[in-house]
Amino acid sequence: MKKIAVFASGTGTNFEAIAKACEDGRIAAQVALMVCDKPGAEVEHRARRHGIPAFVFSPRSYASKADFEREIVARLDAAGVSLVCLAGYMRLIGPTLLDAYRGRIINIHPSLLPAFKGAHAVEDAVAYGVKVFGITIHYVDETLDGGPIIAQRAFPYEGSDPAEVHRLGQIIEHQLYIETIQKIIDESISKCQ
Ligand code: GAR
Repeated sequence: MKKIAVFASGTGTNFEAIAKACEDGRIAAQVALMVCDKPGAEVEHRARRHGIPAFVFSPRSYASKADFEREIVARLDAAGVSLVCLAGYMRLIGPTLLDAYRGRIINIHPSLLPAFKGAHAVEDAVAYGVKVFGITIHYVDETLDGGPIIAQRAFPYEGSDPAEVHRLGQIIEHQLYIETIQKIIDESISKCQ
């Protein structure tokens, strides 16, 4: 059984969608670790409810990013993780983690990249007046919301309410993330055969 890790910083609805899909077989993998950089975030409770081991840390209690990323790498290695899924982990991945797991870290972002990178993608897109929104899943490199695109899904919305775009987008995110993770697993299995 493949082992995956999910990283999150907040609510964790994508984490929970992935956890449920692993439990009911839509994803042929086990969530072996949840990593969170915000002690007390809702995702922590979700992990506990699903019985998923969690590493929750406060970046400020480490001397440097390299220090906490070394600890993350040790925990990913110990758990036998082969794919890292960033799901609202609002932190750039540094060289320590990237070098150890390059090509095995993916991220979900609430815009049609390369448009509207950053933490306020939906708000920025609404302010710009776009009429077609979307979700992107991509491999992670050292740049903000950069790296090769794996999957995208668009949806039309002509209003001006960011909360509504978030709501519509999250329905798509949960589905697209599950499908994409399973596709990556299928591809890695067929490469091994
Ligand atoms: C998701 O909408 C995800 O696309 C976004 O954070 C949200 C987390 O929601 N990620 C980014 O903006 C990355 N740049 P969740 O905690 O409910 O899964």
